[in-house]
Amino acid sequence: MKNVRVIDVAPRDGLQNEAGVIALDEKAKLVRLLTLSGIDEVEVTSFVSPKWVPQLADARALCDVLANDPPKPAGVIYSVLIPNEKGMEQAVEVNERAGRRVLDKVSVFTAASQTFSRKNTNASIEETIERFRSVVARAKASSLLVRGYVSCAIACPFEGAIKPREVADVARRLADLGVDEISLGDTIGAGTPGTVVDMLDAVRATLPGEWTSGAFGINLHLHDTFGRAADCVVAALGAGIRSFDGSVAGLGGCPYASTPGKRAPGNIDTTLLIRTIRDCGFSTHASVDMLAAAAAVARSMVSAARSSSL
Ligand code: HMG
Ligand code: MG
Repeated sequence: MKNVRVIDVAPRDGLQNEAGVIALDEKAKLVRLLTLSGIDEVEVTSFVSPKWVPQLADARALCDVLANDPPKPAGVIYSVLIPNEKGMEQAVEVNERAGRRVLDKVSVFTAASQTFSRKNTNASIEETIERFRSVVARAKASSLLVRGYVSCAIACPFEGAIKPREVADVARRLADLGVDEISLGDTIGAGTPGTVVDMLDAVRATLPGEWTSGAFGINLHLHDTFGRAADCVVAALGAGIRSFDGSVAGLGGCPYASTPGKRAPGNIDTTLLIRTIRDCGFSTHASVDMLAAAAAVARSMVSAARSSSL
């Protein structure tokens, strides 16, 4: 049976959008339980400006705590989100301090919407791509894999619908930089099976051939605003995508994708993601049963943080 990669982004995408304070040991517990669940990859945290995302200001401390754990199972990837060279340096330093590979991958992020790019990173799309040039070179020199995110791959909270060819153009620029993986983000969960497949077709038409085959290339990062994400997963599997992000307990949302009165929505719940993939006849390394403990911890930490922030 063909395996589909599942990446859990809850410790990063999930916790970046929580108003309440979540203790470091709770975050570490969530990462450990996700790792035990058999998931292929955990996006552990972000090395972004703590002024922009105070919820993840403990990124260095969290990575150092994880560095003191026994080595994770072979094949499991820990990744961190970084916007620039400063973030890259912090990721490299985690491994240097540990004297071993704790982090395996860094994820740079840009968008197919200029407005969102500016709101999220204070830079145009072109400026973000320029920033990534040295970041990707540094990652390669440190033997770290690189993911390139394209946010607003379907729609932007400020500009509305985004044309597939604009997404494809940004994806192509990331591929030209030498990233190992491109993650297409439906940041506000606006996608339908039809719009997702149209966007994927446009992206694949513009990328070199090696990107259209193999499990490790194009990834889909779906938020689940309207309950359509699972249908989009089914359509994307049919279109050949073999790597998806989810967030345990459906946590998530970019604070810079929130509009007045409308909080950015969570990612597709990893449990629903795995069930959907399996229902389509594929296998996953992680199991729903093994994820249950992580889901329980995720729910309780977030509900405690939400009630303490009221
Ligand atoms: P800026 O204000 O233009 O940056 O922000 P700056 O270079 O002028 O620096 C301002 C301050 O930030 C300075 O500190 C820097 O040292 C510091 P000060 O001198 O004022 O004390 N700084 C940093 N500190 C720690 N780590 C760093 C770093 N860089 C600068 N890496 C910047 C530009 C990109 C830094 C800022 O806009 C930023 O951090 N943005 C991150 C926003 C974010 O994390 N958004 C959520 C993630 S994206 C997302 O959720 C979408 C996704 O899930 C996919 C999808 O759903 O579509 C990935
Ligand atoms: Mg996201």
